[in-house]
Amino acid sequence: SEQGCLSVVVLGASGDLAKKKTFPALFHLFAQGFLQSGEVHIFGYARSNLSDDGLRERIRGYLKGASEEHLSEFLQLIKYVSGSYDSKEGFEKLNKKISEYEMSNKSESTRRLFYLALPPSVYPSVCKMIRTYCMNPSGWTRVIVEKPFGKDLDSAEELSAQLGDLFEENQLYRIDHYLGKELVQNLLVLRFANRLFLPLWNRDNIDNIQIVFREDFGTDGRGGYFDQYGIIRDIIQNHLLQVFCLVAMEKPVSLKPEHIRDEKVKVLQSVNPIKHDEVVLGQYEGYKDDPTVPDDSNTPTFASVVLRVHNERWEGVPFILKAGKALSSRKAEVRVQFKDVPGDIFRCKRQGRNEFVIRLQPSEAMYMKLTVKKPGLEMATEQSELDLSYGMRYQNVKIPEAYERLILDTIRGDQQHFVRRDELKAAWQIFTPLLHDIDAGRLKAVPYHPGSRGPKEADELSERVGYMQTHGYIWIPPT
Ligand code: BG6
Repeated sequence: SEQGCLSVVVLGASGDLAKKKTFPALFHLFAQGFLQSGEVHIFGYARSNLSDDGLRERIRGYLKGASEEHLSEFLQLIKYVSGSYDSKEGFEKLNKKISEYEMSNKSESTRRLFYLALPPSVYPSVCKMIRTYCMNPSGWTRVIVEKPFGKDLDSAEELSAQLGDLFEENQLYRIDHYLGKELVQNLLVLRFANRLFLPLWNRDNIDNIQIVFREDFGTDGRGGYFDQYGIIRDIIQNHLLQVFCLVAMEKPVSLKPEHIRDEKVKVLQSVNPIKHDEVVLGQYEGYKDDPTVPDDSNTPTFASVVLRVHNERWEGVPFILKAGKALSSRKAEVRVQFKDVPGDIFRCKRQGRNEFVIRLQPSEAMYMKLTVKKPGLEMATEQSELDLSYGMRYQNVKIPEAYERLILDTIRGDQQHFVRRDELKAAWQIFTPLLHDIDAGRLKAVPYHPGSRGPKEADELSERVGYMQTHGYIWIPPT
């Protein structure tokens, strides 16, 4: 329900995530009228000793450039409660403030949303505190948690069990913010609402699929966190794997969240164990200069892994999932490469295959690489693009931030774009053996230059499993 007074509690209110994502998303929802003054209060909770105004001033600092009219009104909705993450007094105080607000609001129903912008080590204790002291006595209580959900299958299962003892699955919202991105959400529509793709989307027509994430900056002061996880746990096991699910899964029975998530689980369970010779790991030079990173760290900041899906649709088609930090550019895309044309009379094979590219960011776009006749008197071919760039096609549309959308979904009770417990388990099953091998040093990260394309071994791996670089050159057949 979207009715009734709403209390949003941001735990970890003075941390990085709250600053960069949570508060800005709440503000934008407010500015667009999705949260209204009369019916929402926001409570920041953290250990620091701050006043309400102290927190408000900080948040003002995070929202530079926001219109003053909305901003001061928004800041008035915010209150601060200080306390530690395992303190009975702290959570009792928090509950008291929420209840006071609910009483004063006099609306018939109440809603409580807890956003854990916290390190996962404190999830169990914080959830226990919420469960014990802060549950909504009348309306709903929902909890948003952020990855990392554990470090491997066992630790993730342990965390799931702990949280599962405290909350029902429909109260837990596991965020993977890639599921809030416009072009990720578009994948479902693209695949299942276009006749064009239905007969093509399979092993008969597709040679390989790449799902790629690149960032043009390194771990930037997050080395201490990052070194314990590495790029596979930070990006591939969650963000890229979610994209993989949407690209590879079968058509769901309906758009009900449970139906969609059932299909994701199925495709994840069809992935074969990852082979060592289909993995390349890299670490950028200079990564270990961060004083919080140990000198002998083998943590990958780049990885390319090939997933093999053992089912009727995909047997034999490699899915290359690649992610890296400190590379030459920032980009995330899905690149579907089709097979060569059989009996090609134009002999344009070396020039390039058909590709369908979905650029998730930046500059959202979908484009199709086609071979066309090069305009002119000669009968020559070249590659060109059928291009749907959102910046051109949807010039006046503001694409919402992932976090805005996901917070709104939580308020509405829609779990479609959140990760279900069995999905998380299936995701960890795929990567855990590989991660254990990396942690034990059985697979080594090769060095690469910051600002490069990453290790050349990764390009070699892609080509070895079938990916063909498409070159833009024109090919004129011999007369
Ligand atoms: C986060 C990772 O989940 O996603 C970061 O922890 C990464 O390391 C970020 O930088 C990337 O998100 P986006 O939306 O900028 O692609």
